[in-house]
Amino acid sequence: REVHVVRHPLVQHKLTLMRQVERSTQGFRRLLNEIGMLLAYEVTRDLPLENVEIETPLTPMKSPLLAGKKLVFAPILRAGMGFVDGMLDLVPSARVAHIGLYRDPKTLQAVEYYFKAPPDVAERLVIVLDPMLATANSAVAAIDRLKERGCHDLRLVCLLAAPEGIERFHGAHPEVPIWTAAIDSHLNEHGYIVPGLGDAGDRMFG
Ligand code: PRP
Repeated sequence: REVHVVRHPLVQHKLTLMRQVERSTQGFRRLLNEIGMLLAYEVTRDLPLENVEIETPLTPMKSPLLAGKKLVFAPILRAGMGFVDGMLDLVPSARVAHIGLYRDPKTLQAVEYYFKAPPDVAERLVIVLDPMLATANSAVAAIDRLKERGCHDLRLVCLLAAPEGIERFHGAHPEVPIWTAAIDSHLNEHGYIVPGLGDAGDRMFG
């Protein structure tokens, strides 16, 4: 059960700006993209390399290139889209799988309304993106769905996690590591992360 809290100062600084109630939609969206890029850097830190023979203008040499599986970013709509552009800036060759889920406000259960993944998704490393890991119903449902499609190399990147969400997520998918910028105090009675930053989807898209 791996949980990586990304304590990089730029991530922590940007997260504080995002939590502030006065942050505009435009500012919030920009910051989420920027943090997306930094989290992409962290989540890819251990990707395997292999030495290949190349030629510089001066001489042949052996030099490392990425060797492992190709990547898929899998945002959970809507809020997960906020990470995508920043991550694609860093890994331009990655594919994108879209997972449409909304959380029923009464039951807090995740309801699927869209799913579209690249045909070779099962052969790739799939990085699921959702800024908020609250009850974890959405993230668990997304991973369930990807496993149904044959995916077995999976990671989860969020921005904020509730301790209850981490517990539930790893109860269902103990082998899927999590990267997050912070673990907050708790969930309130409406399933919102406290202190949190409100509803990420609404703050980004209205
Ligand atoms: C919110 C949030 C996460 C999910 C987290 O999405 O963006 O996707 O809830 O909650 P959970 O861990 O309890 O499942 P919401 O359903 O509001 O949709 P949106 O992103 O389209 O606003």
